[in-house]
Amino acid sequence: MNSEKINELVSQMTITEKLGQLTQLAPFFLGMDPTMDLTGPMNEMNLKPEWIKEVGSTLNGFGARELKALQDRHMANSRLGIPLLFMADIVHGYKTGFPIPLAMGSSFEPALYERACEISAKEGAASGIHLTFAPMTDLVRDPRWGRVMESTGEDAYLNSVMTQAAVRGYQGQNPRDKGRLASCVKHFAAYGAPWGGRDYNTVDQSEGMLREYYLPAYKAAVDAGVAMVMTSFNTVKRVPASANKWLMRDVLREEWGFEGPVISDYAAVDETITHGIAADSAEAARKCLEAGTDIEMMSSHYLVNGEALVSEGKLDIAIIDEAVRRVLELKNALGLFENPYKDADEAWEAELLNHPEHKRAAYEIAIECPVLLKNEGVLPLNNLKPEDKLKIGVAGPFTGTDRVMGSWAVNRESGDRSLIQALRNQMPQAEFITAMTGELGPLQADITDVPDEIDAAVERLRDCDVIIAAVGENSEDTGESASKTILRLSGNQERMIHALHGLGKPVVAVLFCGRPMEIGPILADCDAVLQGWFLGDASGAALADLLIGKANPSGRLTMSIPVSVGQIPVHYNAFRTGRPYRGLHERYVSRYLDCDNEPLFPFGYGLSYSEFAYSDFMVEKTGNSDGVLAKARISVTNISNVPGKETVQLYIHDVAAQVVRPVKELKGFRKLELQPGETAVVSFEITKEMLSYWNEEREFCFEPGAFDIMLGRSSADVESTRIWIG
Ligand code: NOJ
Repeated sequence: MNSEKINELVSQMTITEKLGQLTQLAPFFLGMDPTMDLTGPMNEMNLKPEWIKEVGSTLNGFGARELKALQDRHMANSRLGIPLLFMADIVHGYKTGFPIPLAMGSSFEPALYERACEISAKEGAASGIHLTFAPMTDLVRDPRWGRVMESTGEDAYLNSVMTQAAVRGYQGQNPRDKGRLASCVKHFAAYGAPWGGRDYNTVDQSEGMLREYYLPAYKAAVDAGVAMVMTSFNTVKRVPASANKWLMRDVLREEWGFEGPVISDYAAVDETITHGIAADSAEAARKCLEAGTDIEMMSSHYLVNGEALVSEGKLDIAIIDEAVRRVLELKNALGLFENPYKDADEAWEAELLNHPEHKRAAYEIAIECPVLLKNEGVLPLNNLKPEDKLKIGVAGPFTGTDRVMGSWAVNRESGDRSLIQALRNQMPQAEFITAMTGELGPLQADITDVPDEIDAAVERLRDCDVIIAAVGENSEDTGESASKTILRLSGNQERMIHALHGLGKPVVAVLFCGRPMEIGPILADCDAVLQGWFLGDASGAALADLLIGKANPSGRLTMSIPVSVGQIPVHYNAFRTGRPYRGLHERYVSRYLDCDNEPLFPFGYGLSYSEFAYSDFMVEKTGNSDGVLAKARISVTNISNVPGKETVQLYIHDVAAQVVRPVKELKGFRKLELQPGETAVVSFEITKEMLSYWNEEREFCFEPGAFDIMLGRSSADVESTRIWIG
């Protein structure tokens, strides 16, 4: 169908048919069994029964057979033959469970993230889904917010690169192609910055903050051709995103040229009333439509008020027509008018379930994500002594559980994901003794608070050569509506580790969590700490191989780990202040009296079993040839006898500008694989774009002057040199 045909179709539609296209409901409204819980509250909808058949899309209905049947019923009743669009939250895997996005960010491997999204798209498409509400690309700096697990972290550049990889992974060359999904970037905008880390709370930021930090990753998605954009729940410049004209009309459409539909988040149109910027249902509908929210998810203000708004002259029908056209164009782009099932196919769906290639990919991705935070010679375990003599204690609530998926895991079937099972498989000769393996209660309530259990665990593990503490937070306590003020491990997990440390045997903590946690209190009691995140289906296998040494950890933090909640926000790319702390005992400087300014572990940090030496750091100006102003390079040598991966990171700092600049900003990275003794020279081109910033004239500008160019292994470990660019 071409654009003319779409216009023709729009001209034939009644106002109710149009408003139906602009409404999205859970599939059970359309007669399908709910296969996934609601992902938000149920509000009064005031839906007329005759409207239901006009609804244009559903969310979170799954299954080829079910969705084909739903499409059949719908098409039989659709006067103009307009198919339903099936959307769903496929966030980090569908049938195959991949690591949470925060973990996939830690891989610093966009190609792997892309592969995970490609597989998710294939599995989702075979199941009848047309579009995924992903990637979530909100920049995150506050681990109290449960949704940090859905993001790739605190850096705008890394998030942008990862976002583009995800969009490519889902959509491929064309989302219409077999096994591809349309992708919807979310949550536009700045949902990741709620005050106090409390979900759905106020966001309020300067425009410079938005432009340089919070908006770039959404723009990156638009530049990569993302099909749809979802609004956020929060305010932007004090107007809720779904009613924010500046955000959608000026920035998204006018400046960035986005032409696809915008969908509200779940009931976010309704919530403009609760926010208090719409007096009633009609005003909510008018404001959101005028602002450019084309589809209303899980509320019905457009359907309830649209006709009257137009007939009373309060809303231009052109706004509705434009929104409808965008929705129909997306349906058309996906080929749904010709083939309303798209790729839904029961046989293909079954074939892809537990597909060995997908399982392998889940492992290959999971192995790149964990971050080795500390290692005082205890890891890898296979260096300790011959396996047949090794006695390993494994204690804690994540020893035997397979609840390691993180929020938004669509496939919740039990699986063979547990750490202990994988360790036993991988080390058949070793002896394993477990203790305190009961799962955490809700909100990571203590495994058990009976001190005797800890005493008993100590007794059981007394003769072990090494002890692995499998600790963390509940998978269910991460994600939406899972904000916390306490990021420490529950009391008896900390006490358990402390007591086990008292045995004088090496203790290795493996952390299962969806956010940076406050692990300072256990650090001294642990000889090694592996940040394991929630790794999905391959969790056990990947963690076991890393612990044993069959694989070498290579993840790097993409969110700083705070010393304490009181430090938050503690991101690496903070603005310079007028009174920076220089490590001296001065009073009137920007510091805490009772805590360091620095995080416990910074952005970009992560250890390896290999050791890498950096040398020959050099920056040279190139005189703006082909837009390149300078080149930076450094040599990296693997000086150990273990093959491993190192992520070289480029940071830049603008020494003086019209507005304050961050102390450093990531502008490039490269993950290298080096054999023992191997050296690689890594070089980066420095462009004008990398040196520009949002100025007082409200535009991105480049100003000549001094810049610090830094290369190194983490945001806190770099070599730096200053250059002047004229
Ligand atoms: C609310 C969440 O904020 C959003 O990320 C999700 O896509 C929708 N619910 C639909 O489930």
